[in-house]
Amino acid sequence: MTPTRSLEETLRLRLDERRARGLYRQLKTLAAAPGPQAMVDGRELLTFSSNDYLGLATHPDVIAAQQAGAALGAGATASHLVNGHLHIHRQLQDAIAHVTGREAALVFSSGYMANVGTICALVGRGDNVISDKLNHASLIDGARLCGAASLRFGHSDLDGLQRQLGRAADSGGNTLVAVDGVYSMDGDCAPLAEMAALCRAYGAWLMVDEAHGFGVMGSAQLPSAGSIAAAGLAQGDAPVMMGTLGKAAGNAGAFIAGSKALIDYLVQFARPYIYTTGMPPAVAAGALAAIGVMQREPERRARLRRNIDHFRARAAALDLPLAESASAIQPLLLGCENAVMAVAAELQGRGFLVGAIRPPTVPAGTARLRITLSANHSEAQIDLLLGALAESLDKIRAVAP
Ligand SMILES: Cc1ncc(COP(=O)(O)O)c(C=O)c1O
Repeated sequence: MTPTRSLEETLRLRLDERRARGLYRQLKTLAAAPGPQAMVDGRELLTFSSNDYLGLATHPDVIAAQQAGAALGAGATASHLVNGHLHIHRQLQDAIAHVTGREAALVFSSGYMANVGTICALVGRGDNVISDKLNHASLIDGARLCGAASLRFGHSDLDGLQRQLGRAADSGGNTLVAVDGVYSMDGDCAPLAEMAALCRAYGAWLMVDEAHGFGVMGSAQLPSAGSIAAAGLAQGDAPVMMGTLGKAAGNAGAFIAGSKALIDYLVQFARPYIYTTGMPPAVAAGALAAIGVMQREPERRARLRRNIDHFRARAAALDLPLAESASAIQPLLLGCENAVMAVAAELQGRGFLVGAIRPPTVPAGTARLRITLSANHSEAQIDLLLGALAESLDKIRAVAP
């Protein structure tokens, strides 16, 4: 028998290799959700790293609703199809359908589960799934797991998408095109109107992940519905919409919104919906309240918009390496992992927390700082970050030009 390494030895070797490549990740422990200040590992920092774009994770009405929701039970006690589906889940689904302009919605425990479960339910062996190469890991994993032929195209490359649609049409079967509406690590929006037109021409189904679009953008009629609505599209153009409740809604969980038939179908066939305990009622109550605040307080979206514009104008004046992003996600591409880690550490020393994003989350050579803005940031706080950022970059460049 070939000798094998022990589990502990194997883990140690793999961890050492990750450390040697400068890719080792470490948890930071916060005393409470950032508002945007937070105690991080015992030190108060101003955070520009959360996805709480509208500041709803710390909104008193949302917290009060969530506390009241706990009176319905600490847990759902079973999967949705057994006895874990409560009236509060139905209310939340109805509210989501209403604000997204869709016939129906279904809540999942997380966005990861919603993406994997939906792709695997919709396509399988003999079908095709076409993905943008910068799609979120949960869409990539769904495409890998579903058993369909997996085709990819360059980031937002419409010619590439058309080529893959042609290949898929030649090979037969159904075709699902899955993209992020707003890219989580780049902040740019997918060209959804053109993509929907291509999908229509080839008879493919368009699925859009609205993790970073829901709540913060939309159309005049549906101001918080997300990037599909912002692109002037509706349910018929992008029939499968996924959104998360852990970002602009400041909570946890996710949803798929679409036709009644789509939702009926997912209840029957989406395994991560069927074989897991229902969303805790308090989470459903908190998310429902958050959606209410999104509608009642449009000034939060307006404040976020002003903060994004302010950040970009000031960053451009400081000649910082800004990416083309009009969203709350503002990456600063530095390329090298060590530089990203050094600038993030320098910033932390000066009292700021920003995301330091390295491969495999992003492609090799594109390590970046992921700065996220919230309606709760003040312009003065943004100026403080930018000042510290410019100084930190200068300092790191002086050491390793
Ligand atoms: C684009 C995108 N899709 C899906 C997810 C997964 O959502 P969740 O955190 O609810 O699992 C995330 C973030 O985590 C994301 O950024």
